[in-house]
Amino acid sequence: MRKKLVAGNWKMHGSLQQNALLLERLKAGMPGVQCAVAVCVPHPYLAQAQSLLADSLVLWGAQSVSEHASGAYTGEVSASMLREFGCHHVLVGHSERRSLFGETDAVVAAKFVAAQKEGLVPVLCLGETLAEREAGHTMAVILRQLSAVIDHAGVVALASAVVAYEPVWAIGTGVTASPAQAQEVHAAIRVRLAELDSGLAGGLKILYGGSVKPQNAVELFAQADIDGGLIGGAALVADDFLAICQAAN
Ligand code: PGA
Repeated sequence: MRKKLVAGNWKMHGSLQQNALLLERLKAGMPGVQCAVAVCVPHPYLAQAQSLLADSLVLWGAQSVSEHASGAYTGEVSASMLREFGCHHVLVGHSERRSLFGETDAVVAAKFVAAQKEGLVPVLCLGETLAEREAGHTMAVILRQLSAVIDHAGVVALASAVVAYEPVWAIGTGVTASPAQAQEVHAAIRVRLAELDSGLAGGLKILYGGSVKPQNAVELFAQADIDGGLIGGAALVADDFLAICQAAN
């Protein structure tokens, strides 16, 4: 039985004051939650997350990491820096990083390896655009994105990672993949991994992301291969995020 994980992706939202209120509310709600819970906050707020969450069950992490260990990379943040602030997870390959910041499959694979080198759990985001889905290319895109990481890091690296299936057309749009659509992709990812390493495939957490709300979380999380969620908009509202966490109970 895989323990479910619900991770919040705050994106570029928050302020010291808003975060403090949100994190205190999450901490207070944790007794009603059975799954693992994490928040991925903007880099400047990692110190705040570390100080407010250190005595709680809520894990914290980042939304991006450099593929480089150190050096002349103005504006970048390394995995060892994230580690110093107690990060547990880091998102890699979120569709906004891929589409807005030009992160290629190769860059995403390098970031995945850089994160693991410092003991961080990469949350590898995979997803197709609407045009790709409509053209019938969903699985080809997902498997291409997954293979880039496997080819670079080796399939065993997936044993200490999390995968998040996030169809681009469902992110921030209010349009969620149906539980059956999501389950189909999650199962295909697991089957692909089982072909390479059957022991590993059964233990891998595969999260769904894309307009998860308290209203649709129960049905999504009930699918056999959906092991929790990566939550954007609804992670900024404490009651909604806690309700989604409870849906994973
Ligand atoms: P959303 O975002 O829940 O607002 O659709 C999900 C994500 O981008 O991780």
